[in-house]
Amino acid sequence: MSILVTGGTGYIGSHTCIALMEAGYDVVIADNYYNSKPVVLERIRELAGKEPVFYNCDIRDRAGLDKIFTEQKIDSVIHFAGLKAVGESCHMPLQYFDNNVSGTVVLLEVMAAHGVRRIVFSSSATVYGSENESPLVEDMHIGSVSNPYGRTKVMIEEILNDLYASDDRWSICKLRYFNPIGAHKSGRIGEDPNGIPNNLMPYISRVAVGKLEQLTIFGNDYDTPDGTCVRDYIHVLDLARGHINAVQKTLADTGLFTYNLGTGHGYSVLEVVNAFIKVTGQNVPYRIGPRREGDLACVYSDASRAKAELGWEAQYGIEDMCADAWRWQSRNPDGYDG
Ligand code: NAD
Ligand code: UFG
Repeated sequence: MSILVTGGTGYIGSHTCIALMEAGYDVVIADNYYNSKPVVLERIRELAGKEPVFYNCDIRDRAGLDKIFTEQKIDSVIHFAGLKAVGESCHMPLQYFDNNVSGTVVLLEVMAAHGVRRIVFSSSATVYGSENESPLVEDMHIGSVSNPYGRTKVMIEEILNDLYASDDRWSICKLRYFNPIGAHKSGRIGEDPNGIPNNLMPYISRVAVGKLEQLTIFGNDYDTPDGTCVRDYIHVLDLARGHINAVQKTLADTGLFTYNLGTGHGYSVLEVVNAFIKVTGQNVPYRIGPRREGDLACVYSDASRAKAELGWEAQYGIEDMCADAWRWQSRNPDGYDG
């Protein structure tokens, strides 16, 4: 079976490509290297012992996608390609709607034209917005999101709902990721954000490796046990494995499916920092700063549907996530540029 992975050289995509090849799938990647680098492809090849087929292709490029579906026999698609920075999306909303929403529409049109109607889509816990209380359950009403990035995810979910309503031959898996962190056990691939990281774990790792001076914890006056925000961190290897189960679902059944991919457990920012210090033995200087605009106090999943219907559940705990993030960062202090 052959799987087209859009965004396959990105953080989650690269881990998923390896998991797919290890599970015996043939992998075809479409990525425009907007937020990734060619060296990732070499590392995927090194770790999987196999060569994925690669197309340097923007998903908005209809002719480019058409060429892929003409040249390759694609059985199902995992669609990671997209822009993902919440803050940036507030400054350049049109680029986000164009890349994420228009790009997905082009992809779906080309798929339909080639009779490929199986897709796994990277959605986000952000679609639950601010009105739903954790644990978050897939059937909750979604949409009260506060930024253009989150709105692209809600809009794409709605497009997929409408597509399935129009043609029930489709098999569509919407996966709502919680907070992916960690890296491959080899320390050869991991998360490599450009510039100063926005997200917690890359920031902690860069402080530990000496690239940044100290972490600022955004607020300790939330209504949580230690006052810092609580999130459902999930190891990227667990997430990657979840995509294998989701692809199998698309190959086995038609239908419209939505799954949370989280652990079902929340950790506070302080708990993550302390776990990192404990596991790695590194110093992580931090200070308490003001709250970050838009942050919610507590976000974690109800992960029971993925377990019941996909037979998937997370296996790694917070200490593995910290140890593996550190192995990647310490062996690649300059990320993929090293
Ligand atoms: P990433 O930026 O590392 O990977 C995305 C990949 O898509 C990159 O390699 C980039 O070059 C590529 N890409 C972007 N636009 C493209 C286009 N128009 N055509 C072709 N390729 C394009 O991001 P990631 O963390 O691996 O996230 C993957 C997906 O998961 C994204 O859709 C993201 O919104 C979603 N997601 C991520 C998180 C997270 O915290 N990392 C959480 C929830 C959902
Ligand atoms: N945090 C800090 N200091 C930092 C960075 C983060 O204290 O330097 C805190 C944040 O305030 C938050 C927690 O660490 O409480 C996690 O923050 P992240 O930025 O790592 O993750 P978020 O939960 O804010 O956002 C992530 C993704 C979004 C996605 C969302 C879904 O980055 O793309 O999860 O819930 F939409």
